[in-house]
Amino acid sequence: MRRPIIAGNWKMNNTINEAVELVNGLKRELDNINSVDIVVSPPFTALSDVNELTMDSNIKLSAQNVYWEEKGAFTGEVSTAMLKDAGCAYVIVGHSERRQYFNETNEAVNKRLKAALAGGLKVIVCVGEVLEERESGKAFDVIKDHVQGSLQGLSKLDMNNVILAYEPVWAIGTGKTASPEQAQEIHQYIRGLLKDIFDEETAAEIRIQYGGSVKPDNIKELMQKEDVDGALVGGASLNIDSFSAIVKGAI
Ligand code: PGA
Repeated sequence: MRRPIIAGNWKMNNTINEAVELVNGLKRELDNINSVDIVVSPPFTALSDVNELTMDSNIKLSAQNVYWEEKGAFTGEVSTAMLKDAGCAYVIVGHSERRQYFNETNEAVNKRLKAALAGGLKVIVCVGEVLEERESGKAFDVIKDHVQGSLQGLSKLDMNNVILAYEPVWAIGTGKTASPEQAQEIHQYIRGLLKDIFDEETAAEIRIQYGGSVKPDNIKELMQKEDVDGALVGGASLNIDSFSAIVKGAI
């Protein structure tokens, strides 16, 4: 059985004080949950302070991006070692906003992923089609390209520390969730791709999160789908009550 994983992607939101307030509330609400992996992903500036509060808790810390070089003249970038130093156990790579606004390619996602894994982070790798791609019947091709390109050269062993997130871009921050059936269709397709790239056993073990307007009132039906193993939550992760309810809805 795959253990559910709910991750909050805070994006470019929350000052240090706001982050501390949010995570204190989450600790209160989620203290006794031990059957779901709970992850929060604050902006870089709040990582250390959030780590102080989460290090002895059931909430794990994630960053939203990482650079593949170890150190040096790469202004504005942050390395795996720096993220570990700040307390991160996870990092998100390949988010659609990175792909869309920062021209991130599969190749760059793959380099980030490999560097993060080599440095001992668990990695949430995002894939997903935009609206025109879905409407023109290209969703499966795009997903295949993202999955194959992002995971290029990884071993079965590497996959122990990889979580995939299917995020249809048309459902992110729009209030339009993919129906549980639409999510399941793509998740099942992704698992088939993983079987082709690795093997059946590896594919069966990898967790695939759904992301895109996940809310307390749709998490349960999404989680009921066979290949949906959790959620990557944006907007609703910024509120103590809604994120807590989503985590509880995934049990
Ligand atoms: P949303 O964002 O929940 O606000 O739609 C999801 C994401 O981008 O990870």
